[in-house]
Amino acid sequence: AATVARNAEGVATVGGLDVKALAAEFGTPAYILDEQDFRARARAWREAFGADADVFYAGKAFLSKAVVRWLREEGLNLDVCSAGELAVALAAGMPGERIALHGNNKTPDELEHAVKVGVGHIVVDSYQEIELLAAIAERQGVRQPVLIRVTVGVEAHTHEFIATAHEDQKFGLSLTGGAAAEAVRRVLAKDGLELRGIHSHIGSQIFDTAGFEVAARRLVGLLAEIRDEHGVELPEIDLGGGLGIAYTSEDDPKQPAEIAASLAEIVRRECASARLNAPRISVEPGRAIVGPTAFTLYEVGTIKPLEGLRTYVSVDGGMSDNIRTALYDAEYSVALVSRTSDAAPMLVRVVGKHCESGDIVVRDAFLPADLTAGDLIAVPATGAYCRSMASNYNHALRPPVVAVNAEGARVIVRRETEEDLLRLDIG
Ligand code: LLP
Repeated sequence: AATVARNAEGVATVGGLDVKALAAEFGTPAYILDEQDFRARARAWREAFGADADVFYAGKAFLSKAVVRWLREEGLNLDVCSAGELAVALAAGMPGERIALHGNNKTPDELEHAVKVGVGHIVVDSYQEIELLAAIAERQGVRQPVLIRVTVGVEAHTHEFIATAHEDQKFGLSLTGGAAAEAVRRVLAKDGLELRGIHSHIGSQIFDTAGFEVAARRLVGLLAEIRDEHGVELPEIDLGGGLGIAYTSEDDPKQPAEIAASLAEIVRRECASARLNAPRISVEPGRAIVGPTAFTLYEVGTIKPLEGLRTYVSVDGGMSDNIRTALYDAEYSVALVSRTSDAAPMLVRVVGKHCESGDIVVRDAFLPADLTAGDLIAVPATGAYCRSMASNYNHALRPPVVAVNAEGARVIVRRETEEDLLRLDIG
């Protein structure tokens, strides 16, 4: 989690193991992931939403075969958005019917494969895709369940959301513009497609439930319109992902139970007033499940004090294992974890080893002034969108993911090697 537990010597521990031992065994940089924490968060979502809802973990946040197994065991479903994610899901034994496929530009091969393995639903995102998918399903002699991704005109970021009719983005079919209603007509006309419901995803790292509530209200409104026009009551609405997590001590995220209760209540009330049977609710949390469960362990290298400014602390990773600071101005915290120190705090910027001045891991933080090369530092809350967005920039070797549980630590995604890089380069 975002705070670091310590043993009597002040060395940080995770699942009872100390980080010095982990660094010695697995090297640095490494993502250290707490399996019990992951399972507990997955379970909390499952329990908060109960039997009348489905929780699809968003694999884009972080996906590996071990994670798929944990999700399967904890009763969660899985949202994938590419052939690669689908391959990992299937390789780890996730049943097709518990997988949902997303994407604004799914290829014919991706759709063909998804239909063949019987994915539970495909979230269609364009008229073109409706034609393509219907033809594929009909050729395979099946009726593929689909949801339609709707742009509900709500854009949410952290504390604010904007409700707007203007929907200038690549995802979804516009509710107010009529494209969503037209997509419904087209899907209902296809023998190969079974329209199960409608979907919206309003943003990410959201701290307030208000945006979700507006989206839910608008989706129920569309269900009523569909009933009025076509005489069918669709059985499902999917409200996507987006619940925020604490990256720093200032962040105060909502718990799954709060979101679940407020959504269930809104949907129940809106359906009652529209005289609709309440649909099943689906959600797709990614960050809120995996984000807090891992931290990145780095070894300190060069320390460069800039008089009157700050001290630049270089670590053995950087933007190749965490692009979020450079890309989104994301905020992280950092802690010295290999020992305690009584030294005064010094203002630092934690930077990587890449050939780029924007290669920043933590923009502003304090570390003890006696920091030295060889110390271990940890950046918490790097479970989501760090390993999954990692790159080989400067031919960096992507770090391993080490899962810790009561039995000990084991690598679930191994560190890349120079051989891995050279294998791709056929000369
Ligand atoms: N469902 C859909 C359709 C999505 O597009 C996303 C995320 C999710 C679910 C999961 O959202 P979450 O619960 O993880 O917020 N790379 C960015 C985040 C991009 C999210 C894209 N879609 C970041 O590092 O902040």
